[in-house]
Amino acid sequence: MTLRLVPLLAFGLASSLAAQSPQPLMGQPLPGLTPTQLQLFQQGFAAFTHPLTPAEGVGPIFNEVSCASCHSQPAIGGFSTRRVTRFGKAASGGAAFDPLTGLGGTLLQDQSLDVACRELVPVEADHTAMRGTPALFGAGLIESIADADILNGQAAQAVGVRGIPHWVQPLEDPTGPLRVGHFGWKGGVATVQSFSIDAALNEMGLTSPFAMVENAPNGDLVTLSQWDSVSEPEDQPDGAGYLRTDRFTHFQRFLAPPAQTPRSGLDGEAMFAQIGCAACHTPTFTTSPTAGSGLAGIEVHPYSDFLLHDMGALGDGIVDGAATETMMMTRPLWGLVMRTAFLHDGRSTGATFEGMIDDAIANHGGQADAARIAFQALSPVDQASLVTFLESLGRSEFDWDIDNQLTEFDWYFLENYLTGPAPMTPIGPNDPAALCDVDQDGDFDLVEFGQLQRVWTAQ
Ligand code: HEC
Ligand code: HEC
Repeated sequence: MTLRLVPLLAFGLASSLAAQSPQPLMGQPLPGLTPTQLQLFQQGFAAFTHPLTPAEGVGPIFNEVSCASCHSQPAIGGFSTRRVTRFGKAASGGAAFDPLTGLGGTLLQDQSLDVACRELVPVEADHTAMRGTPALFGAGLIESIADADILNGQAAQAVGVRGIPHWVQPLEDPTGPLRVGHFGWKGGVATVQSFSIDAALNEMGLTSPFAMVENAPNGDLVTLSQWDSVSEPEDQPDGAGYLRTDRFTHFQRFLAPPAQTPRSGLDGEAMFAQIGCAACHTPTFTTSPTAGSGLAGIEVHPYSDFLLHDMGALGDGIVDGAATETMMMTRPLWGLVMRTAFLHDGRSTGATFEGMIDDAIANHGGQADAARIAFQALSPVDQASLVTFLESLGRSEFDWDIDNQLTEFDWYFLENYLTGPAPMTPIGPNDPAALCDVDQDGDFDLVEFGQLQRVWTAQ
């Protein structure tokens, strides 16, 4: 094979090359962690994947026995098609939405230690909604986006698409200041630790020091007392003094963000801004300079403004704090290409990524009406280039077949772009070979060949 290798002299300084290393695959830790942080990440992974037993506190009612039972695709910490059910009584005749808290609402726990303590959707509920499992890659970076920056973004939005922040109390800081929610389909959670505490309790039935009250099946305290044999808090410090909920937090906090390849310059990226998608799906934030070590001052591309928007009929009909029936938080789009279902209830599925995108956009209502109409008015060529841009979100360098791993199969296809009598140079962002042009300088050279080898062997 005749690899077209450009002399190294054509390259910039070593420092700029270092800044352009291949992005981590999904499930890998953030680059540049200290050995201590890396160890916390690995121990956190073990806790995140550990199936809790009843003696360790799972149940009496729960949805699954580990975080990883739901957050698993395409790597631990990811998304899945596992959905959970929310229920309530819809507003009617002047009465507001009723979360049916006394009957176990709004989240259904659909499994139980015994059929005798099972929770069911109560007859009083006349509304249910499904919620899919999002991926947690880059969660520590999302958490590190300062509230002030989210509010600045809000102030800059045109009135017609302006969102609202979802102010919430972090569970681990019950007397501290309110924070802007960064997580959840309704933006109801501000920090990774809060979500860990919340999910431990509500998805697994694990009480912890900041969430001491076990969920009673449909609110039935007598049944609860018969089946809840482990005393609260079930989450106890381990030998190193960390709770399980701390361990879950460490793992998520140090998960690398999804890759985006090419990092910029696709035609569809401009289209995304031009037709108004970027008005809500904010491309860029820089994490707070005061965020924790390894997380501060990093430029990130989550494609969310972390604000609630009135989405019209797409709203899930559940009220959660400031989030009314029709409001949902802008979902970060990073990592999109790996997903197999879009929107909060996973309604957009299908054989092709393009078809799923068409459907997701067609379901955008309310404040997103104008963007939807603008997309649908684009020529097929422009629509396709927008889809190509969305396909770059979650794609790692060299991963031709988009499966979060590098195999001979990827090389089989990539080789065609890079070798032979007429290799494709210069490589532009819109060329398929852009997958191999890590530093986006227009070619695939010895440096990138070395990077490919290293990524391949390290995975
Ligand atoms: C039964 C499946 C299930 C289990 C088990 C589960 N999750 Fe989730 N997770 C979900 C769903 C569904 C959502 C979306 C919740 C919502 O907004 O209603 C979610 C959302 C999240 C989010 C917010 C992500 C975002 O970007 O909005 C975090 C963080 C999270 N989970 C962490 C955890 C942790 C930590 C555990 C283990 C303690 C856990 N989850 C266990 C299903 C699950
Ligand atoms: C007014 C704000 C707003 C605008 C404008 C907007 N979106 Fe969204 N988008 C949202 C919200 C909110 C959600 C979450 C919807 C839900 O809960 O199902 C979302 C979800 C999505 C999803 C599904 C993500 C997932 O993980 O399931 C895709 C894809 C998407 N948007 C693409 C686009 C594109 C492309 C455009 C431009 C045509 C656009 N959006 C314009 C607010 C907006």
